[in-house]
Amino acid sequence: MAIRVAVAGITGRTGRWVAQGLAETPDMELVGGLSRHHGGQSLKEALGLPGGAGEKKVWSSLEELLDREGVDVLVDFTVAEAARSLLPHALSRGLKVVSGTTGLGEADFKALEEAALRHRQVILHAPNFSLGALLLERMAALAARWLPEVEVVEIHHPGKKDRPSGTALALKAAMEKAGARQPVPLHSVRLPGWVAHHRVLFGSRGEALTLSHDVLSREAFLPGVLVAVRGVMRVETPGLYRDLWPFLEGKG
Ligand SMILES: NC(=O)c1ccc[n+]([C@@H]2O[C@H](COP(=O)([O-])OP(=O)(O)OC[C@H]3O[C@@H](n4cnc5c(N)ncnc54)[C@H](OP(=O)(O)O)[C@@H]3O)[C@@H](O)[C@H]2O)c1
Repeated sequence: MAIRVAVAGITGRTGRWVAQGLAETPDMELVGGLSRHHGGQSLKEALGLPGGAGEKKVWSSLEELLDREGVDVLVDFTVAEAARSLLPHALSRGLKVVSGTTGLGEADFKALEEAALRHRQVILHAPNFSLGALLLERMAALAARWLPEVEVVEIHHPGKKDRPSGTALALKAAMEKAGARQPVPLHSVRLPGWVAHHRVLFGSRGEALTLSHDVLSREAFLPGVLVAVRGVMRVETPGLYRDLWPFLEGKG
């Protein structure tokens, strides 16, 4: 049976790409979405989705959605203020959760873990679902063992609310754990035309190494989201998962 998925933030820059990808994925069924400003519209009206998915609706609250549709997984691309209340609520209603919303802090993650354990549910959070960014983190950690002097520059569109990016924070944590000089400095740039770009610059005596990753279109996030949705359906141990890598390798 197809996995029934709803998207919170379905009308956003990322949510709309993810919704379209879910609608085109045979083992998933897009059953609706959440947005404050487009509640009541069909997915055809809001996103131009064709066929059966286009007949599903955008709702302005999770309760309205759950009154009408069965949902297995809630995929969340909203803002931290919204995710802080929406995600525990979804867990309490028996949903599994995949969240890409950034700007959440360690206290938020602790609260999400407690909610998941209390309701015996699974939540997976990743600051970047693109496969290239996951590889960047692995490669940066390897390089930091040998080249400990490193700085990170992240460049995003001006609509991005949090800074530094969740990906930059994850890079910093991974490299510091691997032996980078602490604290790894992070630099944030917001410019029109840019989507999501990370540069990791290492310097050493007489040499420099730069690792970089560019998201050119938000469709880059879809493969990781699909892995995560299948993963949270498979995992049996309740709790908060923050590393997509084991799920990619089929071990999550
Ligand atoms: N992990 C990843 O791979 C990844 C990739 C890209 C983006 N992101 C993150 O995903 C989030 C969304 O990014 P975006 O660029 O798509 O943002 P966006 O274009 O501003 O979209 C945000 C969406 O959330 C909804 N929303 C905003 N405030 C809300 C609230 N208070 N309550 C409920 N819904 C709310 C908006 O709809 P309404 O205003 O109609 O409610 C909209 O649908 C950000 O945190 C971003 O950093 C993560």
